[in-house]
Amino acid sequence: MERPKVFITRQIPQEGIDLLQRVADVDVNPVDAPLPKSKLLEAAAKYDGIIGLLTDKIDSEFFEAGTNLKGYANYAVGFDNIDVAEATRRKVPVSNTPGVLTDATAECAWALIFAVARRVVESDKVMRSGKWDGWGPMQFIGGDIMGKTLGIVGAGRIGTAMALMSRGFGMKVIYTSSSGRRNGVLDAELHAELVPFEELLKRSDFISLHTPLTPDTKHLFDSSAFSLMKDTAYIVNTARGPVINEADLVTALKTGQIAGAGLDVYEKEPAMAPGLAGLDNAVVLPHIGSATVSSRTNMSTLAARNLIAMLRGKKPETCLNPELFD
Ligand code: DGY
Repeated sequence: MERPKVFITRQIPQEGIDLLQRVADVDVNPVDAPLPKSKLLEAAAKYDGIIGLLTDKIDSEFFEAGTNLKGYANYAVGFDNIDVAEATRRKVPVSNTPGVLTDATAECAWALIFAVARRVVESDKVMRSGKWDGWGPMQFIGGDIMGKTLGIVGAGRIGTAMALMSRGFGMKVIYTSSSGRRNGVLDAELHAELVPFEELLKRSDFISLHTPLTPDTKHLFDSSAFSLMKDTAYIVNTARGPVINEADLVTALKTGQIAGAGLDVYEKEPAMAPGLAGLDNAVVLPHIGSATVSSRTNMSTLAARNLIAMLRGKKPETCLNPELFD
């Protein structure tokens, strides 16, 4: 039987590629950059299966081109880049990579909390500049973390893991839920409180975003949300950039409406909103939430196993349109 043909839109850890090569002929985009849309459409037309990234728009044009496509595997847990309804309409299974990057992303949110509250990046810059003239009682005074209130927006896998990591800091955890359902783990382990969004804004000292990007969460944080936050509060985003209106965030940071922001994601990646790069009370990372050896390796093997299942007409482990297999 002819081996299926698979395309990967950018180099990923070899472990997943090795798995695929056992059963398929695999081509990997040789250029280490996001694949141009025209090349993505060419690949959709040519290959039986594709592994793509959050930078690939898997939309109606993609499915239109991919008349023989047996499956698409996203190398990411977030799937706002995929038109899942269209995939289902065209009977193309699609998958993502939940579960394997939970701790890495939660740890990244903590890295941002420490960095922004304790002014780590600003202080590092001064040391490297050679301008530090010795210890001073008024230098780089930041915010406390111990015993403060942590607000989780999106208490799913990553939000829950992030909140559980607060145990070492004796924090009060509050969270919102779009479904209105309580989070049993957070309630039992942390005596966390489910609160309305406005209450979370008003009470939190740190807000950590873990909600998926949907039409409902786009610009959830805008000038009116920032106006309800404490002026000593920090916001951290390791979810998706457009959950925050970045121009409004720049204003809130400039005017001292909030104390600081730690960002791993942006509204228009790879760009940042004008003004953001110049702000010392913002710590900015290049979307590295899942960038640990084990997470990226496991993302690659999970995406590969998902695609192999789809090439065989089977339901992938982490399917986004499981109804296709009912
Ligand atoms: C994801 O998986 O959605 C992250 O943003 C990248 O790992």
